[in-house]
Amino acid sequence: MNSPRTFHVKSFGCQMNVYDGARMAELLEAEGLAAAPDAGAADLVVLNTCHIREKAAEKVYSDIGRLKREDGSRPMIAVAGCVAQAEGAEIPRRAPSVDIVVGPQAYHRLPEMVASAARGERALDTDMPVQSKFGALPARRRQGPTAFLTVQEGCDKFCTYCVVPYTRGAEISRPWAAIVDEARALIDMGAREITLLGQNVNAWQGEDDKGHAQGLDGLIRALDALPGLARIRYTTSHPNDMTEGLIRAHGDVEKLMPFLHLPVQSGSDRILKAMNRSHSTASYLAVIERVRAARPDIAISGDFIVGFPGETQAEFQDTLEIVRAVNYAQAYSFKYSPRPGTPAAEMSDQIAPEVMDERLQRLQALLTEQQLRFNRASVGKRTTVLLERKGKRPGQLIGKSPWLQSVHLETDAAIGDLVDVDILSAGPNSLGGAPLMEQAA
Ligand code: 5AD
Ligand code: SF4
Repeated sequence: MNSPRTFHVKSFGCQMNVYDGARMAELLEAEGLAAAPDAGAADLVVLNTCHIREKAAEKVYSDIGRLKREDGSRPMIAVAGCVAQAEGAEIPRRAPSVDIVVGPQAYHRLPEMVASAARGERALDTDMPVQSKFGALPARRRQGPTAFLTVQEGCDKFCTYCVVPYTRGAEISRPWAAIVDEARALIDMGAREITLLGQNVNAWQGEDDKGHAQGLDGLIRALDALPGLARIRYTTSHPNDMTEGLIRAHGDVEKLMPFLHLPVQSGSDRILKAMNRSHSTASYLAVIERVRAARPDIAISGDFIVGFPGETQAEFQDTLEIVRAVNYAQAYSFKYSPRPGTPAAEMSDQIAPEVMDERLQRLQALLTEQQLRFNRASVGKRTTVLLERKGKRPGQLIGKSPWLQSVHLETDAAIGDLVDVDILSAGPNSLGGAPLMEQAA
């Protein structure tokens, strides 16, 4: 196989994976490869996979099959991400056309693995070195107005349903200086908003440049001081790591946006225990109350799993109850999916699929209703919108409100501008607005 000249990275799953996909693209570009618009046009295709739910592994195999071209040839194929980590050598055994298998902690080695594959040697690396891969990655190269910045990876919490501690490994925090430097570089390249990423982002800990111990709130305050940056966000958080300092930051760091994604997963204390969540419904609600006291307009988001093994009808009702108690601005909800190797997959009384379907529908109906109510309450407000991309109609741009709502508006302003907007209409998934007259002039 020849050395590839073009590549295409296809990312699935969470924002961390999207970030990793972008870093892999930067890494390949630094090696002189050019990005191809789609997999069909690329000499090298990287499938950056997700393993958190569903039959993700099965999907990878059908995607691999589809990469075969009409003339019978195929591109060089790399499987990256969490399926690569979980399945490892099993992947080339089942799909011999795969040339490279690279886990989330090893992708800085992609260029040498591509070189091996070009020599006809299959390359596999799913090591999880303690040493961070970040030091081995090239500097950031491109940037739109909104940027992701990984500050923490991995998870030590071992929720019984979750594959992340196995695919992403133990919790590690990137060093303070590396993060602040990367933030500066992103801002220089045009980022106006930075979202700090981590599987347990609020578990981030480190030392600042004076050697003082810091948590995520310290990092947020350091970013707050960087000129040119307008907005800071972070995701995803664990309820147990919502420190007093972080809650306080929501009250007094102006650039920190009023939005908190704080998964609770279930409203039943018995189920939370079986999930090994190490928080209760009461402690979760207490955190929400304190966050709201610090920042009354904060939008709360969450994750939910329905149909965890043994979940009774009454326990599912408790989940609806906690949703009513919190009143979410938006949330994600999923049917429980047994992940090979996790304790919950071995539990008895797995819930029937049709019961899960029915519970998910009821939960989502309630969450959609709350989201619509939250969006409708924005109508008539004046707020700032960071313009991110073009809309479908000519002259239309789409941006985000401070509460992470998509706002559509017609404006002469440019992508990357922060504009003052009157919110005029609301649907379940987006808002319509108009720029203030002074600005439009
Ligand atoms: N089944 C269903 N949902 C899951 N999640 C994680 N693991 C599973 C699973 N096995 C959900 C959780 C988590 C989100 C990222 O994905 O709600 O917060
Ligand atoms: Fe998975 Fe729980 Fe860790 Fe989140 S906290 S990544 S759900 S084990």
